[in-house]
Amino acid sequence: MIIEPRTRGFICLTSHPTGCEQNVINQIEYVKSKGKIDGAKKVLVIGASTGFGLASRISSAFGSDAATIGVFFDKPATEGRPGSPGFYNTAAFEKQATAAGLYAKSINGDAFSNEIKEQVVNLIKEDLGQIDLVIYSLASPVRTHPTTGTRYKSVLKPIGDVFSNKTVDFHTGKVSEISINPAEGEDVENTINVMGGEDWKMWMDALQSENLLAEGATTVAYSYIGPEVTKPVYRNGTIGAAKDHLEATAFTITDDLKSIGGKAYVSVNKALVTQASSAIPVIPLYISLLYKVMKAKGIHEGCIEQIQRLYSERLFGGDLALDEKGRIRVDDWEMREDVQAEVNKLWETATTENLSEIGDLEGYSNDFYNLFGFKVAGVDYEADVNEVVNVPSIQ
Ligand code: NAI
Ligand code: NA
Repeated sequence: MIIEPRTRGFICLTSHPTGCEQNVINQIEYVKSKGKIDGAKKVLVIGASTGFGLASRISSAFGSDAATIGVFFDKPATEGRPGSPGFYNTAAFEKQATAAGLYAKSINGDAFSNEIKEQVVNLIKEDLGQIDLVIYSLASPVRTHPTTGTRYKSVLKPIGDVFSNKTVDFHTGKVSEISINPAEGEDVENTINVMGGEDWKMWMDALQSENLLAEGATTVAYSYIGPEVTKPVYRNGTIGAAKDHLEATAFTITDDLKSIGGKAYVSVNKALVTQASSAIPVIPLYISLLYKVMKAKGIHEGCIEQIQRLYSERLFGGDLALDEKGRIRVDDWEMREDVQAEVNKLWETATTENLSEIGDLEGYSNDFYNLFGFKVAGVDYEADVNEVVNVPSIQ
Protein backbone atom coordinates (compact mmCIF):
# COMPACT_ATOMS: atom_id res chain seq x y z
CA MET A 1 0.00 0.00 0.00
CA ILE A 2 0.93 3.67 -0.21
CA ILE A 3 1.14 5.06 3.33
CA GLU A 4 0.66 8.73 4.04
CA PRO A 5 0.84 10.58 7.36
CA ARG A 6 -2.52 11.03 9.05
CA THR A 7 -2.14 13.31 12.03
CA ARG A 8 -4.54 14.09 14.82
CA GLY A 9 -3.18 16.73 17.18
CA PHE A 10 0.17 15.61 18.50
CA ILE A 11 -0.14 12.05 17.30
CA CYS A 12 0.20 10.46 13.92
CA LEU A 13 -2.12 7.56 13.22
CA THR A 14 -0.01 5.98 10.49
CA SER A 15 3.65 5.14 10.14
CA HIS A 16 5.93 4.12 7.32
CA PRO A 17 8.02 0.94 7.49
CA THR A 18 10.67 2.03 4.98
CA GLY A 19 11.07 5.42 6.66
CA CYS A 20 11.36 3.82 10.10
CA GLU A 21 13.93 1.37 8.73
CA GLN A 22 15.94 4.22 7.21
CA ASN A 23 15.88 6.09 10.56
CA VAL A 24 17.29 3.02 12.29
CA ILE A 25 19.97 2.56 9.62
CA ASN A 26 20.95 6.24 9.96
CA GLN A 27 21.31 5.85 13.73
CA ILE A 28 23.40 2.70 13.31
CA GLU A 29 25.65 4.47 10.82
CA TYR A 30 26.10 7.36 13.24
CA VAL A 31 27.13 5.06 16.10
CA LYS A 32 29.54 3.15 13.86
CA SER A 33 31.09 6.40 12.61
CA LYS A 34 32.00 7.32 16.19
CA GLY A 35 34.03 4.15 16.77
CA LYS A 36 33.88 1.36 19.31
CA ILE A 37 32.86 1.91 22.93
CA ASP A 38 34.25 -0.43 25.56
CA GLY A 39 30.81 -0.86 27.14
CA ALA A 40 28.34 -3.45 28.39
CA LYS A 41 28.00 -6.71 26.46
CA LYS A 42 24.62 -8.00 27.62
CA VAL A 43 22.02 -5.30 27.72
CA LEU A 44 18.33 -5.15 28.60
CA VAL A 45 16.49 -2.07 27.35
CA ILE A 46 13.01 -1.42 28.77
CA GLY A 47 11.26 1.01 26.42
CA ALA A 48 13.49 -0.02 23.52
CA SER A 49 11.48 0.78 20.43
CA THR A 50 11.57 4.57 20.04
CA GLY A 51 13.28 7.71 21.36
CA PHE A 52 16.07 7.40 23.91
CA GLY A 53 15.49 3.69 24.50
CA LEU A 54 15.93 2.79 20.83
CA ALA A 55 19.04 4.98 20.71
CA SER A 56 20.35 3.10 23.75
CA ARG A 57 19.75 -0.27 22.15
CA ILE A 58 21.48 0.84 18.95
CA SER A 59 24.42 2.37 20.86
CA SER A 60 24.91 -0.85 22.84
CA ALA A 61 24.64 -3.16 19.85
CA PHE A 62 26.60 -1.19 17.29
CA GLY A 63 28.93 0.66 19.66
CA SER A 64 29.89 -2.27 21.91
CA ASP A 65 28.76 -5.38 19.99
CA ALA A 66 26.29 -6.07 22.78
CA ALA A 67 23.60 -8.72 22.84
CA THR A 68 20.34 -6.88 23.48
CA ILE A 69 16.90 -7.72 24.74
CA GLY A 70 14.35 -5.00 24.04
CA VAL A 71 10.98 -4.58 25.76
CA PHE A 72 8.30 -2.23 24.42
CA PHE A 73 4.57 -1.85 23.90
CA ASP A 74 3.74 -1.45 20.24
CA LYS A 75 1.08 -2.28 17.73
CA PRO A 76 1.96 -4.79 15.02
CA ALA A 77 0.68 -4.06 11.54
CA THR A 78 -2.27 -5.88 10.09
CA GLU A 79 -3.33 -6.09 6.47
CA GLY A 80 -4.19 -2.53 5.40
CA ARG A 81 -3.28 -0.98 8.78
CA PRO A 82 0.28 0.13 9.47
CA GLY A 83 1.79 -0.83 12.83
CA SER A 84 3.19 1.68 15.31
CA PRO A 85 6.66 3.07 14.56
CA GLY A 86 8.27 1.17 17.44
CA PHE A 87 7.28 -2.08 15.81
CA TYR A 88 8.84 -1.10 12.47
CA ASN A 89 11.92 0.30 14.23
CA THR A 90 12.42 -2.96 16.09
CA ALA A 91 11.94 -5.04 12.96
CA ALA A 92 14.63 -2.95 11.26
CA PHE A 93 16.91 -3.09 14.29
CA GLU A 94 16.74 -6.87 14.59
CA LYS A 95 17.36 -7.27 10.86
CA GLN A 96 20.51 -5.13 11.07
CA ALA A 97 21.72 -6.68 14.34
CA THR A 98 21.31 -10.21 13.05
CA ALA A 99 23.12 -9.33 9.83
CA ALA A 100 25.98 -8.01 11.99
CA GLY A 101 26.07 -11.26 13.95
CA LEU A 102 24.59 -9.75 17.10
CA TYR A 103 22.05 -11.39 19.40
CA ALA A 104 18.80 -9.40 19.49
CA LYS A 105 15.45 -10.50 20.86
CA SER A 106 12.38 -8.47 21.66
CA ILE A 107 9.32 -8.73 23.85
CA ASN A 108 6.20 -6.73 23.03
CA GLY A 109 3.88 -6.18 25.98
CA ASP A 110 3.18 -4.20 29.13
CA ALA A 111 6.49 -3.76 30.95
CA PHE A 112 4.60 -2.81 34.13
CA SER A 113 3.08 -6.28 34.36
CA ASN A 114 4.45 -9.32 36.23
CA GLU A 115 3.86 -11.43 33.16
CA ILE A 116 6.25 -9.47 30.93
CA LYS A 117 8.90 -9.35 33.67
CA GLU A 118 8.61 -13.13 33.95
CA GLN A 119 8.99 -13.55 30.19
CA VAL A 120 12.13 -11.42 30.24
CA VAL A 121 13.53 -13.33 33.23
CA ASN A 122 13.02 -16.61 31.40
CA LEU A 123 14.56 -15.30 28.20
CA ILE A 124 17.67 -14.11 30.05
CA LYS A 125 17.96 -17.48 31.81
CA GLU A 126 17.70 -19.32 28.51
CA ASP A 127 19.87 -17.12 26.34
CA LEU A 128 22.19 -14.71 28.13
CA GLY A 129 22.65 -15.94 31.70
CA GLN A 130 23.28 -12.52 33.18
CA ILE A 131 22.82 -8.88 32.20
CA ASP A 132 25.40 -6.15 32.80
CA LEU A 133 23.40 -3.06 31.79
CA VAL A 134 19.69 -2.31 32.21
CA ILE A 135 18.36 0.83 30.51
CA TYR A 136 15.00 2.00 31.81
CA SER A 137 13.38 4.29 29.24
CA LEU A 138 9.64 3.97 29.56
CA ALA A 139 7.33 6.86 28.78
CA SER A 140 3.70 6.00 29.34
CA PRO A 141 0.50 7.85 30.24
CA VAL A 142 -0.93 4.89 32.20
CA ARG A 143 0.17 2.06 34.46
CA THR A 144 -1.78 -0.85 35.84
CA HIS A 145 -0.20 -1.75 39.16
CA PRO A 146 0.85 -5.41 39.03
CA THR A 147 -0.12 -6.29 42.60
CA THR A 148 -3.22 -4.17 43.24
CA GLY A 149 -4.58 -4.01 39.68
CA THR A 150 -5.26 -0.29 40.10
CA ARG A 151 -4.94 1.62 36.83
CA TYR A 152 -3.15 4.92 37.33
CA LYS A 153 -3.20 7.79 34.83
CA SER A 154 -0.46 10.39 34.79
CA VAL A 155 -1.27 14.05 34.18
CA LEU A 156 0.78 17.04 33.05
CA LYS A 157 -0.25 19.77 35.45
CA PRO A 158 1.37 22.43 37.59
CA ILE A 159 1.22 22.00 41.36
CA GLY A 160 -0.36 24.79 43.40
CA ASP A 161 -1.22 27.56 40.94
CA VAL A 162 -2.72 27.92 37.49
CA PHE A 163 0.09 28.12 34.94
CA SER A 164 -0.30 30.44 31.96
CA ASN A 165 2.22 30.80 29.21
CA LYS A 166 2.73 30.57 25.47
CA THR A 167 2.54 27.44 23.43
CA VAL A 168 2.59 26.58 19.75
CA ASP A 169 0.59 24.29 17.54
CA PHE A 170 3.55 22.99 15.55
CA HIS A 171 1.37 21.93 12.62
CA THR A 172 0.07 25.44 11.98
CA GLY A 173 2.74 27.55 13.70
CA LYS A 174 0.07 29.35 15.68
CA VAL A 175 1.40 30.72 18.96
CA SER A 176 -1.24 31.11 21.65
CA GLU A 177 -1.65 31.61 25.34
CA ILE A 178 -2.66 28.55 27.38
CA SER A 179 -3.67 28.13 30.98
CA ILE A 180 -3.34 24.84 32.80
CA ASN A 181 -5.18 24.21 36.02
CA PRO A 182 -3.20 22.85 38.94
CA ALA A 183 -3.20 19.23 40.05
CA GLU A 184 -6.09 18.17 42.22
CA GLY A 185 -7.15 15.09 44.13
CA GLU A 186 -4.68 12.28 43.58
CA ASP A 187 -3.09 13.71 40.41
CA VAL A 188 0.39 13.89 41.94
CA GLU A 189 0.36 10.39 43.46
CA ASN A 190 -1.11 8.95 40.26
CA THR A 191 1.60 10.51 38.12
CA ILE A 192 4.29 9.25 40.51
CA ASN A 193 2.73 5.79 40.27
CA VAL A 194 3.06 5.85 36.48
CA MET A 195 6.35 7.67 35.83
CA GLY A 196 8.14 7.40 39.20
CA GLY A 197 10.67 4.76 40.17
CA GLU A 198 8.53 1.95 41.59
CA ASP A 199 8.44 -0.09 38.40
CA TRP A 200 12.18 0.45 37.80
CA LYS A 201 12.87 -1.02 41.23
CA MET A 202 10.46 -3.90 40.55
CA TRP A 203 12.44 -4.76 37.43
CA MET A 204 15.75 -4.67 39.27
CA ASP A 205 14.32 -6.74 42.15
CA ALA A 206 13.00 -9.32 39.70
CA LEU A 207 16.38 -9.59 37.98
CA GLN A 208 18.42 -9.63 41.17
CA SER A 209 16.29 -12.21 42.96
CA GLU A 210 16.86 -14.59 40.05
CA ASN A 211 20.61 -13.87 40.08
CA LEU A 212 20.44 -12.43 36.56
CA LEU A 213 22.59 -9.38 37.20
CA ALA A 214 26.32 -9.70 36.57
CA GLU A 215 28.92 -8.50 39.08
CA GLY A 216 29.10 -4.70 38.81
CA ALA A 217 25.91 -4.44 36.77
CA THR A 218 24.67 -0.92 36.04
CA THR A 219 21.21 0.43 35.46
CA VAL A 220 20.30 3.83 34.05
CA ALA A 221 16.94 5.61 33.87
CA TYR A 222 16.29 8.86 32.00
CA SER A 223 15.10 12.12 33.46
CA TYR A 224 14.58 15.74 32.45
CA ILE A 225 14.95 19.12 34.13
CA GLY A 226 14.59 21.87 31.53
CA PRO A 227 14.40 25.65 31.58
CA GLU A 228 12.68 28.20 33.81
CA VAL A 229 9.79 28.74 31.35
CA THR A 230 8.60 25.15 31.55
CA LYS A 231 9.36 24.67 35.23
CA PRO A 232 5.82 25.18 36.60
CA VAL A 233 4.37 22.60 34.21
CA TYR A 234 7.35 20.26 34.02
CA ARG A 235 9.93 19.99 36.78
CA ASN A 236 7.83 21.61 39.51
CA GLY A 237 4.66 19.99 38.20
CA THR A 238 3.18 16.51 38.48
CA ILE A 239 5.69 14.94 36.06
CA GLY A 240 8.56 16.57 37.97
CA ALA A 241 7.28 14.96 41.16
CA ALA A 242 7.49 11.62 39.37
CA LYS A 243 11.03 12.42 38.17
CA ASP A 244 12.01 13.32 41.76
CA HIS A 245 10.75 9.90 42.79
CA LEU A 246 12.61 8.21 39.94
CA GLU A 247 15.83 10.00 40.88
CA ALA A 248 15.47 9.04 44.55
CA THR A 249 14.88 5.43 43.50
CA ALA A 250 18.35 5.34 41.93
CA PHE A 251 19.84 5.54 45.43
CA THR A 252 17.54 2.79 46.73
CA ILE A 253 18.50 0.50 43.86
CA THR A 254 22.21 1.22 44.34
CA ASP A 255 21.78 0.11 47.97
CA ASP A 256 20.01 -3.04 46.83
CA LEU A 257 22.84 -3.81 44.40
CA LYS A 258 25.64 -3.45 46.98
CA SER A 259 26.22 -7.21 47.25
CA ILE A 260 27.10 -7.41 43.55
CA GLY A 261 28.82 -4.01 43.39
CA GLY A 262 26.11 -2.69 41.09
CA LYS A 263 25.04 0.91 40.55
CA ALA A 264 21.88 2.74 39.51
CA TYR A 265 22.08 6.13 37.82
CA VAL A 266 19.76 8.69 36.39
CA SER A 267 20.88 10.50 33.26
CA VAL A 268 19.29 13.87 32.65
CA ASN A 269 18.86 14.17 28.90
CA LYS A 270 18.15 17.01 26.52
CA ALA A 271 14.69 18.08 25.37
CA LEU A 272 13.91 16.36 22.10
CA VAL A 273 10.96 15.72 19.86
CA THR A 274 9.59 12.29 20.73
CA GLN A 275 6.08 10.93 20.99
CA ALA A 276 6.23 11.58 24.73
CA SER A 277 7.40 15.21 24.60
CA SER A 278 5.05 16.31 21.79
CA ALA A 279 2.18 15.77 24.21
CA ILE A 280 3.45 18.23 26.82
CA PRO A 281 2.07 21.78 26.51
CA VAL A 282 4.59 24.65 26.18
CA ILE A 283 7.47 22.22 25.47
CA PRO A 284 7.07 22.30 21.64
CA LEU A 285 7.54 26.08 21.61
CA TYR A 286 10.58 25.78 23.86
CA ILE A 287 12.04 23.00 21.70
CA SER A 288 11.58 24.96 18.48
CA LEU A 289 13.49 27.92 19.97
CA LEU A 290 16.10 25.65 21.55
CA TYR A 291 16.74 23.84 18.26
CA LYS A 292 17.28 27.14 16.50
CA VAL A 293 19.81 28.33 19.07
CA MET A 294 21.64 25.00 19.42
CA LYS A 295 21.83 24.44 15.66
CA ALA A 296 23.25 27.94 15.18
CA LYS A 297 25.93 27.14 17.75
CA GLY A 298 26.63 23.73 16.18
CA ILE A 299 25.72 21.84 19.36
CA HIS A 300 22.35 20.35 18.41
CA GLU A 301 21.93 16.64 19.17
CA GLY A 302 19.20 14.07 18.56
CA CYS A 303 18.52 10.95 20.65
CA ILE A 304 21.34 8.97 19.06
CA GLU A 305 23.95 11.71 19.51
CA GLN A 306 22.84 12.10 23.14
CA ILE A 307 23.10 8.43 24.00
CA GLN A 308 26.30 7.85 22.02
CA ARG A 309 27.85 10.67 24.07
CA LEU A 310 26.33 9.35 27.31
CA TYR A 311 28.01 5.98 26.66
CA SER A 312 31.34 7.09 25.22
CA GLU A 313 32.04 10.04 27.52
CA ARG A 314 30.16 9.30 30.72
CA LEU A 315 29.06 5.72 31.40
CA PHE A 316 32.02 4.02 29.75
CA GLY A 317 34.29 7.02 29.33
CA GLY A 318 35.70 7.04 32.84
CA ASP A 319 34.12 10.34 33.93
CA LEU A 320 30.49 10.27 35.01
CA ALA A 321 30.73 13.97 35.95
CA LEU A 322 27.82 13.62 38.38
CA ASP A 323 26.02 16.76 39.51
CA GLU A 324 25.36 17.72 43.15
CA LYS A 325 22.39 15.34 43.20
CA GLY A 326 24.36 12.40 41.85
CA ARG A 327 22.92 12.61 38.33
CA ILE A 328 24.64 12.21 34.99
CA ARG A 329 24.04 15.31 32.84
CA VAL A 330 23.91 15.10 29.07
CA ASP A 331 21.58 18.08 29.08
CA ASP A 332 24.74 20.10 29.78
CA TRP A 333 24.74 21.81 26.37
CA GLU A 334 21.01 22.58 26.52
CA MET A 335 21.44 24.12 29.96
CA ARG A 336 24.52 26.21 29.03
CA GLU A 337 24.04 29.78 30.19
CA ASP A 338 24.50 31.31 26.74
CA VAL A 339 21.98 28.88 25.24
CA GLN A 340 19.35 29.51 27.92
CA ALA A 341 19.84 33.29 27.77
CA GLU A 342 19.23 33.32 24.03
CA VAL A 343 16.20 31.03 24.24
CA ASN A 344 14.74 33.25 26.98
CA LYS A 345 15.12 36.34 24.85
CA LEU A 346 13.44 34.66 21.90
CA TRP A 347 10.67 33.38 24.17
CA GLU A 348 9.72 36.92 25.14
CA THR A 349 9.23 37.98 21.55
CA ALA A 350 7.83 34.80 19.97
CA THR A 351 4.59 35.27 18.05
CA THR A 352 2.74 33.44 15.29
CA GLU A 353 4.17 35.99 12.83
CA ASN A 354 7.86 35.66 13.70
CA LEU A 355 8.17 32.07 14.93
CA SER A 356 9.09 30.56 11.58
CA GLU A 357 12.04 32.94 11.57
CA ILE A 358 13.20 33.03 15.19
CA GLY A 359 12.36 29.39 15.92
CA ASP A 360 13.08 26.11 14.18
CA LEU A 361 9.47 25.18 13.54
CA GLU A 362 10.48 23.34 10.42
CA GLY A 363 13.03 21.27 12.37
CA TYR A 364 10.40 20.45 14.96
CA SER A 365 7.83 19.45 12.40
CA ASN A 366 10.35 17.38 10.44
CA ASP A 367 11.48 15.54 13.57
CA PHE A 368 7.84 14.87 14.43
CA TYR A 369 7.13 13.32 11.02
CA ASN A 370 10.42 11.41 11.18
CA LEU A 371 9.25 9.70 14.39
CA PHE A 372 6.64 7.96 12.26
CA GLY A 373 8.95 7.28 9.34
CA PHE A 374 7.74 10.18 7.20
CA LYS A 375 9.78 12.89 5.45
CA VAL A 376 12.91 10.79 5.82
CA ALA A 377 15.53 11.67 3.22
CA GLY A 378 16.06 9.07 0.53
CA VAL A 379 12.76 7.24 1.02
CA ASP A 380 10.44 6.87 -1.94
CA TYR A 381 6.98 7.50 -0.53
CA GLU A 382 5.31 6.87 -3.88
CA ALA A 383 6.49 3.28 -3.86
CA ASP A 384 4.14 0.51 -2.88
CA VAL A 385 5.21 -0.95 0.49
CA ASN A 386 4.19 -4.03 2.36
CA GLU A 387 2.70 -2.68 5.60
CA VAL A 388 2.90 -6.05 7.34
CA VAL A 389 6.45 -6.32 8.63
CA ASN A 390 7.35 -8.78 11.36
CA VAL A 391 9.86 -8.47 14.15
CA PRO A 392 11.91 -11.63 13.50
CA SER A 393 12.11 -12.72 17.17
CA ILE A 394 8.36 -12.21 17.74
CA GLN A 395 6.24 -14.82 16.01
P1 NAI B 1 9.24 7.46 23.71
O1 NAI B 1 7.76 7.65 23.73
O2 NAI B 1 9.96 7.70 22.45
O3 NAI B 1 9.60 5.94 24.16
C1 NAI B 1 8.88 5.26 25.12
C2 NAI B 1 9.17 3.77 25.04
O4 NAI B 1 8.46 3.12 26.10
C3 NAI B 1 8.69 3.09 23.74
O5 NAI B 1 9.61 2.08 23.39
C4 NAI B 1 7.37 2.45 24.16
O6 NAI B 1 7.02 1.30 23.39
C5 NAI B 1 7.71 2.04 25.58
N1 NAI B 1 6.53 1.84 26.44
C6 NAI B 1 5.59 2.74 26.81
N2 NAI B 1 4.70 2.15 27.64
C7 NAI B 1 5.11 0.88 27.81
C8 NAI B 1 4.63 -0.23 28.56
N3 NAI B 1 3.56 -0.14 29.33
N4 NAI B 1 5.30 -1.39 28.47
C9 NAI B 1 6.40 -1.52 27.69
N5 NAI B 1 6.91 -0.51 26.98
C10 NAI B 1 6.27 0.67 27.03
O7 NAI B 1 9.79 8.33 24.90
P2 NAI B 1 11.19 9.03 25.20
O8 NAI B 1 11.03 10.48 24.97
O9 NAI B 1 12.31 8.29 24.59
O10 NAI B 1 11.23 8.86 26.79
C11 NAI B 1 12.00 7.90 27.45
C12 NAI B 1 12.45 8.46 28.78
O11 NAI B 1 13.30 9.59 28.54
C13 NAI B 1 11.30 8.97 29.65
O12 NAI B 1 11.58 8.67 31.00
C14 NAI B 1 11.36 10.48 29.44
O13 NAI B 1 10.83 11.21 30.51
C15 NAI B 1 12.85 10.67 29.33
N6 NAI B 1 13.28 11.94 28.71
C16 NAI B 1 12.68 12.42 27.57
C17 NAI B 1 13.06 13.65 27.05
C18 NAI B 1 12.43 14.19 25.81
O14 NAI B 1 12.57 15.39 25.55
N7 NAI B 1 11.78 13.41 25.00
C19 NAI B 1 14.12 14.46 27.69
C20 NAI B 1 14.74 13.82 28.82
C21 NAI B 1 14.30 12.62 29.32
NA1 NA C 1 12.49 5.33 24.83
